[in-house]
Amino acid sequence: MLLPAERLRERVQELAREIDGHYDGRDVLVVVVLKGAFVFASDLVRCLASPVEIDFIRLESYGDNTCSSSEVCVTSELREPVEDREVLIVEDIIDSGWSLRFLQDYLTERGAADVKVCALLDKPARRQVDVTADFVGFTIPDVFVAGYGVDYAQCFRNLPDVCSLSDE
Ligand code: IMP
Ligand code: MG
Repeated sequence: MLLPAERLRERVQELAREIDGHYDGRDVLVVVVLKGAFVFASDLVRCLASPVEIDFIRLESYGDNTCSSSEVCVTSELREPVEDREVLIVEDIIDSGWSLRFLQDYLTERGAADVKVCALLDKPARRQVDVTADFVGFTIPDVFVAGYGVDYAQCFRNLPDVCSLSDE
């Protein structure tokens, strides 16, 4: 177990306070990256006081393996307009950075007024492109994790804790 549920809960509350402090009562469009961020996002938005709208986008770059790929595509589209809006991306993990880079460009090209990023986990040692999140839950080493919404080959999303995977 890398991050037990209780630690996640406390950190999510702190992140929400940081995010509320930044938006200072302004409207924010929360874009949740499926599937991995769904548990994190559901906890996070319930701690936010800022007026939020929530939309979802599904990105794929991984097969059922642990290698990253610079080929990112949208497999389920946003439904809300992003033009002239302040957008907060909620992502589970920043790994190589390719997914985040893609989504930042995607939202900017569609006219978002501002794009900020909140990531539950950051693995800076794995970075291939220079991206950073504005709000980070935990910086972790180069380990493969699952739980709290995050999968390994579509399994373990329902675990309440973030766990690191061993070879067995
Ligand atoms: P990136 O494009 O390489 O930054 O990949 C980011 C995405 O890869 C994350 O949103 C996750 O869905 C997935 N990912 C990265 N590391 C892990 C991990 O340790 N476990 C499960 N999924 C991961
Ligand atoms: Mg993801």
